Amino acid sequence: MVKIGDIELPDFPLLLAPMEDVSDPPFRALCKEQGADVVYTEFISSEGLIRDAAKSTMKLDIYEKERPVGIQIFGANLDSMLKSVEIVEKSNPDIIDINFGCPVKKVVSKGAGAGILKDIDLMVSLTEAMVKHTKLPVTVKTRLGWDENTIKIVEVAERLQDVGCASIAIHGRTRAQMYKGEADWHPIAAVKNNPRMHIPVFGNGDVNSPEKAMLMRDKFGLDGAMIGRASIGYPWFFREVKHFFETGTHLAKPTMDERIDAARRHLQMSIDWKGERLGVFETRRHYTNYFKGIPHFKEYRQRLVTTDDSEGVFKVLDEVYEKFGDYQFV
Ligand SMILES: Cc1cc2nc3c(=O)[nH]c(=O)nc-3n(C[C@H](O)[C@H](O)[C@H](O)COP(=O)(O)O)c2cc1C
Repeated sequence: MVKIGDIELPDFPLLLAPMEDVSDPPFRALCKEQGADVVYTEFISSEGLIRDAAKSTMKLDIYEKERPVGIQIFGANLDSMLKSVEIVEKSNPDIIDINFGCPVKKVVSKGAGAGILKDIDLMVSLTEAMVKHTKLPVTVKTRLGWDENTIKIVEVAERLQDVGCASIAIHGRTRAQMYKGEADWHPIAAVKNNPRMHIPVFGNGDVNSPEKAMLMRDKFGLDGAMIGRASIGYPWFFREVKHFFETGTHLAKPTMDERIDAARRHLQMSIDWKGERLGVFETRRHYTNYFKGIPHFKEYRQRLVTTDDSEGVFKVLDEVYEKFGDYQFV
């Protein structure tokens, strides 16, 4: 069994990665239904939270049905991070996660996200202060290092553990790599193989097939997999991995009925949660994957991602079902 603080998880849990504009409550709920064991919000700015920026506070919403859920925050200022811990606690999440991995310039230039990989002492002291400031488990998501010459993740992970971090998820790329090349899981395995490590070490980066998840478990010996891009528009990825672990065989792909149902519910939950305009807009990025592989689908995809009102999108989904309802996905 794997534990994050007191939260008991099955062996080799599958975690839905925090993803900006993707890991919102509707999508997290769909992933949870399909077997995700822990889900995370997208990153939330600590500075935004303490300014009470509406966009930031809305990201704190969670549904009961998605638990256990972690709220991820980022920042580099101790005071702001501690104040945001207090704000986040009011949403009653199960976990508070710190983003020490975001590579984008506007975050890094303020010393936050992966920017903190240039100041490991600050990374450790911020984590320690946050752990002391809350009763919730505090977890960290980070990258291997700033660049290939500064990979000290074994030492960093041990220091984070020693100040009370409850688990660590490591993306097998450096900040300099951004999303390029392949994720390297060897340094993550080195973290896990450190005999002093006792908190769960989760691997992240390029888990895009059940076989790869199995490799992460059996060859690299990690405690669980955090899954990002493979789940976008494809929440069934979680159940496919679990089925493969249990049986060694591949589960049949979701049927058109399931896909249409998921797309409809996704859209409906999104509108209920963030309103018609944003709900329609932010569900768009999922449709390509929901219906990936259907020949001659271009026209419908185009309409799904350009129709501005939900009624119109629901109608296109009806048409898709009428035209392609019998399509067999392989
Ligand atoms: C659209 C998108 C948004 C992301 N937003 C976040 C974020 O808010 N917080 C974070 O820690 N990582 C974020 N990431 C990184 C992912 O959590 C993950 O580390 C990365 O995609 C590698 O995993 P994967 O290969 O399974 O996708 C984001 C990635 C994508 C593709």
